[in-house]
Amino acid sequence: MDALALGMAHRYPESHVLYRKFNRHFPVIVRGKGCTLWDDTGKAYLDGSGGAYVCNLGHGVTAIADAVSAQMREVAYVTGMQFTNPAVEALAAEMAALSVGDLDKFLFLTSGADATEAALKLARQHWVARGRPSKHKILALAPAYHGHTMLALSAGARPAYRAMFGEWMVPVVQVPAPYAYRCACDGAADCPRCTGTILEEVIAREGADSIAVFIGETVGGSSTGASVPRDAYWRTVREICTRHDILWVADEVLVGAGRTGTWTAVEPYGAVPDIMTMGKGISARYAPLAAVVTAERVLAPIAEQGGGVLHAQTYAHTPMMCAAGVATVRYVREHDLLARCRAMGARLHAALAPLRDHPLVGDVRGRGLLAGIELVADRATRAPFPRAQGVADRVADAALAEGLVCWPHAGGADGVNGDVVCLAPPFVVSDAELLEMVARLERALERVAASRPGR
Ligand SMILES: Cc1ncc(COP(=O)(O)O)c(C=O)c1O
Repeated sequence: MDALALGMAHRYPESHVLYRKFNRHFPVIVRGKGCTLWDDTGKAYLDGSGGAYVCNLGHGVTAIADAVSAQMREVAYVTGMQFTNPAVEALAAEMAALSVGDLDKFLFLTSGADATEAALKLARQHWVARGRPSKHKILALAPAYHGHTMLALSAGARPAYRAMFGEWMVPVVQVPAPYAYRCACDGAADCPRCTGTILEEVIAREGADSIAVFIGETVGGSSTGASVPRDAYWRTVREICTRHDILWVADEVLVGAGRTGTWTAVEPYGAVPDIMTMGKGISARYAPLAAVVTAERVLAPIAEQGGGVLHAQTYAHTPMMCAAGVATVRYVREHDLLARCRAMGARLHAALAPLRDHPLVGDVRGRGLLAGIELVADRATRAPFPRAQGVADRVADAALAEGLVCWPHAGGADGVNGDVVCLAPPFVVSDAELLEMVARLERALERVAASRPGR
């Protein structure tokens, strides 16, 4: 019997569902269309973050549902260990046409975390195949987020998870992430952290011969809350990695697939990574789908040994999920949604700009249809709120009460404190919907500001 039929409350421990949080009620969403979700009481929510930065096409796109269902009727599953299939071949070809540089070999998996694991393992395989097994270290930007499996968590290095699972994590060398609002340089042109030259310092300290790979989110997602690195940042990283024989993995699970206005977020930087991960928007999550893409130059040494990719998953290259990807990529192209994302992104940032004067807001930033609103206790000193106050979560809850889904993040400022609320609407969002999202967010901020001690 399901919880609905039993009339159970949708909170722990009444339901049989093990909810992610034990201390809240979960509305039951029964329908979605475009940017709107409806719960079982009829309440409507504007989906301002596409769930977890996923629903790029909006909800209820029947073209995608039809494509997935047609594929499932034809053949839903074959193992990628023994067969290929038309859907995976088509998806790889479609995505190769949109890719940067020579990144044109795709491994399709089901989650971003899995893609992170596969990408890092591939980098290690590359160096072992080239007879350089001493190259094993992982360098990763901090703050960062790469997923919840253990290697991905290790690379993400969030102190809260380290405290709980530290013994199970692999050592990862941290490189301070480009995060202009939280950098002491005050915009200095030669800031090592903001320009990327800090990577050179870390490599000198660790020894290039011991380093296999450097991983970073091209534009900050849940880590630095939509912080956009400077224009030359990724070209600098490219040059440093090439000079020291280090593979660069660009994590585009959140910011790829058009979210920042170009198919890949790295495109405007004019730099080509060695490996890239993608997820979320590549199927607009009409089916679980993620990808690792790399180049022949990375694979050739492994191929010469007669081996294969040492990463397996039951659902790799599954026709059903790849059909969702093909339909999504074609939908983006046929509806010119990258151009729409750029245009609506400009409107979103213009609409959010006045929030810079709000007493809770320290910074508003982002690119395309990705925006981060950083909330601070003191606008002059940029001091974050103490984590215990849960300010970003309270704003997100207040937004939900106002009928807006937005996404809260914590810990960006110093690993524990630091509150950011992000918006990432579907690319099909209308002008009126955008303005309404911003208005509801503003009302949510007002609710939280009004409940602050001393008001
Ligand atoms: C940048 C980045 N990488 C990896 C992941 C992990 O993706 P998934 O949740 O599909 O495992 C996420 C998820 O939010 C992400 O934002």
